[in-house]
Amino acid sequence: MVTWREEAKRKAALAAVQHVKDDFVVGLGSGSTAAYVIEEIGRLIREDGIHVLGVPSSSQAMMVAVHSGVPLTTLDEHPVIDLDIDGADEVDGKLDMIKGGGGALTREKIVAHAAKQVVIVGDETKLVEKLGAFKVPVEALPFAFATVKAEIKKLGGKPFLRESKGKVGAVVTDNGNYILDVDFGFISDAEELNRQLKLVPGVIETGLFVRLADVVYLAKPDGIIKLEK
Ligand code: 5RP
Repeated sequence: MVTWREEAKRKAALAAVQHVKDDFVVGLGSGSTAAYVIEEIGRLIREDGIHVLGVPSSSQAMMVAVHSGVPLTTLDEHPVIDLDIDGADEVDGKLDMIKGGGGALTREKIVAHAAKQVVIVGDETKLVEKLGAFKVPVEALPFAFATVKAEIKKLGGKPFLRESKGKVGAVVTDNGNYILDVDFGFISDAEELNRQLKLVPGVIETGLFVRLADVVYLAKPDGIIKLEK
């Protein structure tokens, strides 16, 4: 049985894909909602004959793109891309977000930064008044894992190493790093927290995405919430 959340994710994905135009280079986000986006882009290529190149933000996005028939390119060939469509774990009213539930935060942030427009998709449960119920993913160099952990504690966070479900030990990202999921409680200044975290040697990236989203589609059973910058 298809749940309302799966239907909502698909609905949000279809709304976001309306932003894709012929000859666009599109950043392909990661996660289950972004997968619907990639599949729909594949359908447009197959059935409507549009030309699109995708820049995948993870190995998962790459595999979904290959499976859906979306041709791929790289940031080396296209350092500026037309559009990025991605999911999120939390979005607030200012369109600031927590991302990285799927562990792809670093490449997702790089791809989002390279895009002229960033469109975010999800179901309505992603909308929050204040960021922070979802722990902030922080990608850290394995060599610096213990020192990063100690510095995060000094910043008031409770870090938990993300453990793999399919194998023993830590999750290793597409970049060969670890992820610390950090409980900071509710976050009053995401931009400042992001800045503090990025000053810690060994921190590769954080899941705090501040002022990156332009449009957000969050679908619910009876419609769709659209937030714009
Ligand atoms: C991956 C992400 C995802 O976009 C985020 O976790 C949302 O995933 P889903 O659409 O499956 O809820 O940031 O790193």
